[in-house]
Amino acid sequence: MKTLLRGRLLSFHADPAETKSNHTYIEDGALIVDEGRIVARGLYADLAAPDMAEVDHRPHLILPGFIDAHIHFPQVQVIASWGDQLLDWLNRYTFPQEARYGAAAHAEAMAPAFLDLLLAHGTTTASAFASVHPGSAEALFSAAQARGMMMIAGKVMMDRNAPETVRDTPQRGYDESKRLIQRWQGRDRLRYAISPRFAITSTPEQLQAAGALAAEHPDLHIQTHLSENLAEIDYTLSLYPRARDYLDVYETYGLVGPKTLLGHAIHLNPREIARIAETQARAVFCPTSNLFLGSGLFDAARLREAGVVSGVATDVGGGTSYSMLQTLNEAYKILQLRGQKLHPLSAFHWATRGNALALGLADRIGSLQAGFDADLVVLDCRATPAMALRAEAIESLAEELFLLQILGDDRAVAQTYVAGRPMKPAPVLTR
Ligand code: GUN
Ligand code: ZN
Repeated sequence: MKTLLRGRLLSFHADPAETKSNHTYIEDGALIVDEGRIVARGLYADLAAPDMAEVDHRPHLILPGFIDAHIHFPQVQVIASWGDQLLDWLNRYTFPQEARYGAAAHAEAMAPAFLDLLLAHGTTTASAFASVHPGSAEALFSAAQARGMMMIAGKVMMDRNAPETVRDTPQRGYDESKRLIQRWQGRDRLRYAISPRFAITSTPEQLQAAGALAAEHPDLHIQTHLSENLAEIDYTLSLYPRARDYLDVYETYGLVGPKTLLGHAIHLNPREIARIAETQARAVFCPTSNLFLGSGLFDAARLREAGVVSGVATDVGGGTSYSMLQTLNEAYKILQLRGQKLHPLSAFHWATRGNALALGLADRIGSLQAGFDADLVVLDCRATPAMALRAEAIESLAEELFLLQILGDDRAVAQTYVAGRPMKPAPVLTR
């Protein structure tokens, strides 16, 4: 049955940093949704018809659902762990928590909770790392399938510099990834990402196995971490003494191409930036994580000028919020420290169409267009008393978006639609 969703529609068709005419805003707009797709977008007055169910979201904004370009599923109980930078944080908090996902029952309990958190925050698609255990990827894919979500995910490959409970071997990592690819790649809205965690936790033999998988499956995403932290870079170069730089490690094993998502990408040399641009790999900015772990300040302008396409992501649990709004808030502040500006239109483009482009999914999600998947977020700029008070003084769409970006979080998400179905978990009633 067709449903009409009424509200203030906002969708981007170009990057505001590059093109003046970049978005469509329809004050009294409507989307007609049928069988998971947007079948029409326009003025409410033009689309309303007596045979359709109608949901009136006025005065809220309706945007494409947020996309999170880098997040760790087995870190739902790592988020907000005190005191360390990257390598100590991994050893003290992350690896012990991820070890628990060796028990299928734990992974199966956490996966629905993880995805419901994403949906509560308005995120409808993510590129997610599971733990090393294939059962954790199974649990995540199953839960995403049950929700009808478009999800990119993979089990991390890691065979050294971590406790045995979170290690595989080159052969096991290859075999387990292969089996998961056969089971999940292209099933419903799911995609597999080959996921060597990072150079420190993979032997050369394992990166070679990951490269073999990539060569056998050139259509798959590859997700990993690059140059997040200075101690990480030093350690990496000591483990790979023949590499010209950190990126060269991944290049050597055939892991850098247009489907490669390089998490963090903060401390890069000019050769690395030029190669990322040339290979069309993506850099992924993880602002809340970069601040929380004291990693450094992402240089968005430098990468853009070099022709690199960047995504933006929460990186929970190094990141401190599931909210792409809060992620854009911290992105704004990091870029302030860099002397760069993140305009609210650019910010909302980034979290929607921009990330769809970064993930190579911009033909299905990230904009409100007829034929696209009906993944949507409904945003309320008056969701809290502080927001409502500030909202009294806004005079433009850009000001409203900036208010959402700086003060918004899951409370500002009035509804989330996945393939046309409302999915925002109901609030828990306390009385
Ligand atoms: N580098 C390797 N693994 C991780 C991780 O889990 N989180 C972050 N932030 N960086 C990493
Ligand atoms: Zn990460």
